[in-house]
Amino acid sequence: MKELLIAIDGPAGSGKSSVAQLVAKKLKLNYLDTGAMYRAVGIYLHSKNLSPSDDLSKALDEIEFFYNSGDLYLNGEKLKEQIRTAQAGKLASDFAVNPLVRLKLTEIQRNICKGGRFVVDGRDIGTVVLPNAQVKIFLTASFEERVRRRLKELCHKGVDLTFEEVAEQIRLRDEQDSKRSLAPLRPAEDAIVIDTTDKSIEEVVQEICDIVLRRMNCENDRC
Ligand code: DC
Repeated sequence: MKELLIAIDGPAGSGKSSVAQLVAKKLKLNYLDTGAMYRAVGIYLHSKNLSPSDDLSKALDEIEFFYNSGDLYLNGEKLKEQIRTAQAGKLASDFAVNPLVRLKLTEIQRNICKGGRFVVDGRDIGTVVLPNAQVKIFLTASFEERVRRRLKELCHKGVDLTFEEVAEQIRLRDEQDSKRSLAPLRPAEDAIVIDTTDKSIEEVVQEICDIVLRRMNCENDRC
Protein backbone atom coordinates (compact mmCIF):
# COMPACT_ATOMS: atom_id res chain seq x y z
CA MET A 1 0.00 0.00 0.00
CA LYS A 2 1.07 3.57 -0.72
CA GLU A 3 2.88 5.61 1.96
CA LEU A 4 0.51 7.82 3.96
CA LEU A 5 1.82 10.22 6.60
CA ILE A 6 -0.33 12.42 8.83
CA ALA A 7 1.42 14.91 11.11
CA ILE A 8 -0.37 16.15 14.22
CA ASP A 9 1.51 18.83 16.16
CA GLY A 10 0.52 21.07 19.03
CA PRO A 11 1.36 22.29 22.54
CA ALA A 12 0.93 20.42 25.83
CA GLY A 13 -2.74 19.85 26.62
CA SER A 14 -3.99 20.49 23.07
CA GLY A 15 -5.27 16.90 23.00
CA LYS A 16 -2.95 15.74 20.24
CA SER A 17 -2.01 12.35 21.69
CA SER A 18 -5.60 11.23 22.34
CA VAL A 19 -6.74 12.61 19.00
CA ALA A 20 -3.82 11.12 17.04
CA GLN A 21 -4.38 7.66 18.56
CA LEU A 22 -8.09 7.70 17.71
CA VAL A 23 -7.50 8.97 14.16
CA ALA A 24 -4.98 6.16 13.64
CA LYS A 25 -7.44 3.59 14.97
CA LYS A 26 -10.33 4.88 12.86
CA LEU A 27 -8.33 5.02 9.64
CA LYS A 28 -6.45 1.77 10.41
CA LEU A 29 -3.05 3.48 10.38
CA ASN A 30 -0.04 3.05 12.66
CA TYR A 31 0.51 5.54 15.45
CA LEU A 32 3.88 7.02 16.46
CA ASP A 33 4.15 9.12 19.63
CA THR A 34 7.37 11.15 19.24
CA GLY A 35 6.88 12.82 22.64
CA ALA A 36 7.25 9.36 24.20
CA MET A 37 10.64 9.05 22.46
CA TYR A 38 11.85 12.41 23.84
CA ARG A 39 10.59 11.41 27.28
CA ALA A 40 12.38 8.03 27.21
CA VAL A 41 15.62 9.62 25.98
CA GLY A 42 15.38 12.33 28.66
CA ILE A 43 15.06 9.69 31.39
CA TYR A 44 17.87 7.60 29.86
CA LEU A 45 20.35 10.50 29.62
CA HIS A 46 19.44 11.77 33.10
CA SER A 47 20.04 8.26 34.50
CA LYS A 48 23.58 8.49 33.08
CA ASN A 49 24.06 11.73 35.06
CA LEU A 50 24.16 13.76 31.87
CA SER A 51 22.64 17.20 31.39
CA PRO A 52 21.41 18.88 28.17
CA SER A 53 24.54 21.05 27.83
CA ASP A 54 26.95 18.05 28.04
CA ASP A 55 28.53 16.33 25.05
CA LEU A 56 25.88 13.68 24.49
CA SER A 57 27.35 12.08 21.35
CA LYS A 58 28.65 8.90 23.02
CA ALA A 59 25.47 8.29 25.02
CA LEU A 60 23.31 8.94 21.96
CA ASP A 61 25.34 6.45 19.92
CA GLU A 62 24.24 3.77 22.40
CA ILE A 63 20.56 4.51 21.85
CA GLU A 64 18.46 2.28 19.60
CA PHE A 65 14.71 2.44 19.15
CA PHE A 66 12.54 -0.37 17.85
CA TYR A 67 8.92 0.13 16.77
CA ASN A 68 6.44 -2.73 16.64
CA SER A 69 2.68 -2.30 16.11
CA GLY A 70 2.42 0.88 18.16
CA ASP A 71 4.87 -0.18 20.86
CA LEU A 72 8.25 1.52 21.23
CA TYR A 73 11.35 -0.09 22.72
CA LEU A 74 14.50 1.74 23.82
CA ASN A 75 17.54 -0.57 23.76
CA GLY A 76 15.23 -3.57 23.86
CA GLU A 77 13.07 -2.34 26.74
CA LYS A 78 9.45 -1.45 26.13
CA LEU A 79 8.57 2.13 27.16
CA LYS A 80 6.54 2.06 30.35
CA GLU A 81 4.05 4.29 32.17
CA GLN A 82 6.97 5.99 34.01
CA ILE A 83 7.57 8.16 30.92
CA ARG A 84 4.22 9.87 31.63
CA THR A 85 5.29 11.69 34.81
CA ALA A 86 5.66 15.49 34.95
CA GLN A 87 9.38 14.99 35.67
CA ALA A 88 9.80 12.92 32.50
CA GLY A 89 7.98 15.64 30.53
CA LYS A 90 10.34 18.26 31.91
CA LEU A 91 13.42 16.12 31.15
CA ALA A 92 12.11 15.56 27.61
CA SER A 93 11.64 19.28 27.02
CA ASP A 94 15.05 20.11 28.57
CA PHE A 95 16.99 17.57 26.47
CA ALA A 96 14.93 18.42 23.36
CA VAL A 97 16.86 21.70 22.98
CA ASN A 98 20.09 19.76 22.34
CA PRO A 99 20.80 19.60 18.55
CA LEU A 100 22.30 16.08 18.70
CA VAL A 101 19.23 14.73 20.49
CA ARG A 102 16.96 16.28 17.85
CA LEU A 103 19.13 15.01 14.99
CA LYS A 104 19.18 11.49 16.38
CA LEU A 105 15.43 11.30 17.08
CA THR A 106 14.47 12.96 13.80
CA GLU A 107 16.47 10.35 11.87
CA ILE A 108 14.95 7.45 13.85
CA GLN A 109 11.42 8.83 13.40
CA ARG A 110 11.90 9.21 9.64
CA ASN A 111 13.21 5.64 9.39
CA ILE A 112 10.26 4.24 11.33
CA CYS A 113 7.77 6.06 9.06
CA LYS A 114 9.55 5.45 5.74
CA GLY A 115 7.18 3.81 3.25
CA GLY A 116 4.56 3.25 5.96
CA ARG A 117 1.12 4.51 6.86
CA PHE A 118 1.35 6.54 10.05
CA VAL A 119 -0.27 9.17 12.21
CA VAL A 120 2.63 10.89 13.99
CA ASP A 121 2.22 13.35 16.84
CA GLY A 122 4.75 15.80 18.26
CA ARG A 123 5.96 19.37 18.07
CA ASP A 124 8.00 19.49 14.84
CA ILE A 125 6.50 16.72 12.70
CA GLY A 126 4.96 18.93 10.01
CA THR A 127 7.86 21.41 9.98
CA VAL A 128 10.97 19.22 10.29
CA VAL A 129 10.50 15.46 10.65
CA LEU A 130 7.98 14.86 7.85
CA PRO A 131 7.81 18.02 5.71
CA ASN A 132 6.23 15.95 2.92
CA ALA A 133 3.40 14.53 5.06
CA GLN A 134 0.18 14.42 3.01
CA VAL A 135 -1.84 15.97 5.84
CA LYS A 136 -0.54 18.36 8.52
CA ILE A 137 -2.70 19.32 11.47
CA PHE A 138 -1.82 21.78 14.22
CA LEU A 139 -4.04 21.52 17.30
CA THR A 140 -4.48 24.44 19.67
CA ALA A 141 -6.70 25.22 22.65
CA SER A 142 -6.92 28.17 25.02
CA PHE A 143 -4.36 28.19 27.83
CA GLU A 144 -7.06 27.75 30.53
CA GLU A 145 -8.60 24.80 28.70
CA ARG A 146 -5.21 23.12 28.30
CA VAL A 147 -4.55 23.52 32.04
CA ARG A 148 -8.02 22.13 32.86
CA ARG A 149 -7.41 19.08 30.65
CA ARG A 150 -3.99 18.37 32.19
CA LEU A 151 -5.43 18.82 35.69
CA LYS A 152 -8.19 16.29 34.93
CA GLU A 153 -5.65 13.81 33.53
CA LEU A 154 -3.45 14.17 36.65
CA CYS A 155 -6.48 13.84 38.92
CA HIS A 156 -7.34 10.49 37.24
CA LYS A 157 -3.79 9.35 38.01
CA GLY A 158 -4.18 10.38 41.66
CA VAL A 159 -1.74 13.31 41.36
CA ASP A 160 -2.90 16.19 43.52
CA LEU A 161 -1.85 19.56 42.08
CA THR A 162 -3.59 22.95 42.06
CA PHE A 163 -4.73 24.79 38.92
CA GLU A 164 -1.94 27.34 39.48
CA GLU A 165 0.76 24.65 39.79
CA VAL A 166 -0.31 22.94 36.56
CA ALA A 167 -0.65 26.34 34.84
CA GLU A 168 2.96 27.13 35.76
CA GLN A 169 4.19 23.74 34.42
CA ILE A 170 2.37 24.31 31.11
CA ARG A 171 3.51 27.92 30.83
CA LEU A 172 7.16 26.88 31.27
CA ARG A 173 6.78 24.00 28.78
CA ASP A 174 5.14 26.28 26.18
CA GLU A 175 7.92 28.79 26.57
CA GLN A 176 10.73 26.25 26.31
CA ASP A 177 9.20 24.33 23.37
CA SER A 178 8.28 27.38 21.30
CA LYS A 179 11.36 29.51 21.99
CA ARG A 180 14.12 26.95 21.32
CA SER A 181 16.17 27.84 18.25
CA LEU A 182 16.04 24.36 16.69
CA ALA A 183 12.70 22.97 15.48
CA PRO A 184 10.52 25.16 17.73
CA LEU A 185 6.85 24.41 18.20
CA ARG A 186 4.96 26.18 15.40
CA PRO A 187 2.47 25.25 12.68
CA ALA A 188 3.91 24.36 9.28
CA GLU A 189 2.89 26.84 6.58
CA ASP A 190 0.66 24.22 4.98
CA ALA A 191 -0.82 22.94 8.27
CA ILE A 192 -4.54 23.10 9.02
CA VAL A 193 -4.94 24.73 12.43
CA ILE A 194 -7.80 23.38 14.57
CA ASP A 195 -8.81 25.13 17.78
CA THR A 196 -10.10 22.36 20.05
CA THR A 197 -11.16 24.59 22.98
CA ASP A 198 -14.91 24.08 22.55
CA LYS A 199 -14.82 20.75 20.74
CA SER A 200 -15.06 17.20 22.02
CA ILE A 201 -12.32 14.70 21.18
CA GLU A 202 -14.80 12.86 18.92
CA GLU A 203 -15.56 16.04 16.96
CA VAL A 204 -11.88 16.77 16.40
CA VAL A 205 -11.18 13.15 15.39
CA GLN A 206 -14.05 13.25 12.88
CA GLU A 207 -12.86 16.57 11.47
CA ILE A 208 -9.34 15.20 10.90
CA CYS A 209 -10.59 11.91 9.42
CA ASP A 210 -12.77 13.91 6.99
CA ILE A 211 -9.77 16.04 5.97
CA VAL A 212 -7.63 12.92 5.40
CA LEU A 213 -10.31 11.11 3.41
CA ARG A 214 -11.01 14.20 1.28
CA ARG A 215 -7.30 14.58 0.55
CA MET A 216 -6.93 10.88 -0.35
CA ASN A 217 -9.97 10.90 -2.64
CA CYS A 218 -8.65 14.03 -4.23
CA GLU A 219 -5.27 12.36 -4.88
CA ASN A 220 -6.96 9.29 -6.41
CA ASP A 221 -9.12 11.53 -8.62
CA ARG A 222 -6.07 13.73 -9.38
CA CYS A 223 -8.10 16.83 -8.55
O1 DC B 1 4.13 15.53 23.74
P1 DC B 1 4.84 15.32 25.04
O2 DC B 1 4.30 16.16 26.17
O3 DC B 1 4.92 13.86 25.41
O4 DC B 1 6.37 15.81 24.76
C1 DC B 1 7.30 15.97 25.81
C2 DC B 1 8.38 16.96 25.39
O5 DC B 1 9.20 16.39 24.36
C3 DC B 1 7.89 18.28 24.82
O6 DC B 1 7.63 19.22 25.83
C4 DC B 1 9.02 18.70 23.92
C5 DC B 1 9.63 17.39 23.46
N1 DC B 1 9.22 17.02 22.09
C6 DC B 1 9.86 17.63 21.04
O7 DC B 1 10.70 18.49 21.26
N2 DC B 1 9.57 17.27 19.77
C7 DC B 1 8.64 16.34 19.51
N3 DC B 1 8.39 16.00 18.24
C8 DC B 1 7.94 15.72 20.57
C9 DC B 1 8.24 16.11 21.86
